[in-house]
Amino acid sequence: MERTLIIIKPDAVGKGATGKIIDRFIEEGFKIIGLKMFKFTKDQARKFYIVHKDRPFYEELVEFMTSGPVVACVLEGERAISRVREIIGPTDSEEARKTAPNSIRALYGTDKGKNAIHASDSEESANYEIPFIFSSIEFVE
Ligand code: RTP
Ligand code: MG
Repeated sequence: MERTLIIIKPDAVGKGATGKIIDRFIEEGFKIIGLKMFKFTKDQARKFYIVHKDRPFYEELVEFMTSGPVVACVLEGERAISRVREIIGPTDSEEARKTAPNSIRALYGTDKGKNAIHASDSEESANYEIPFIFSSIEFVE
């Protein structure tokens, strides 16, 4: 069993897609063991995405991620990290609509920046991101 973090981003929360996205992961067989809604501060968003600190889109990403509430879930399942990445689709929602039309980013995202959802991309990132957002008492076993 593996755990991964997803964050439904402000664009998708704002367009009312939260329920449909969570439902998709339930239908795909994942167990939701953590769930919360919150709004990132700028400092929190910068720290969460610290791996991108030298990328040209870093400040734009921080602005976007702090533009409204987000919904985070910890999902558990076999090979959860790679399977969830497959279900969310490629980073650019426009590309996703061409190559992965049933992916979450194809269905609910707009472009390369506003792409509806985040998911941990490796065991290393899941190990950083899950405790960043959730403390141990918030998990349902
Ligand atoms: P995420 O971390 O949010 O799951 O997305 P990802 O792995 O598919 O993509 P990543 O390269 O980690 O980029 C993180 C987020 O930064 C925004 N971005 N904007 N304007 C741009 O060129 C650009 N490139 C990336 C996106 O919101 C992306 O999900
Ligand atoms: Mg990433």
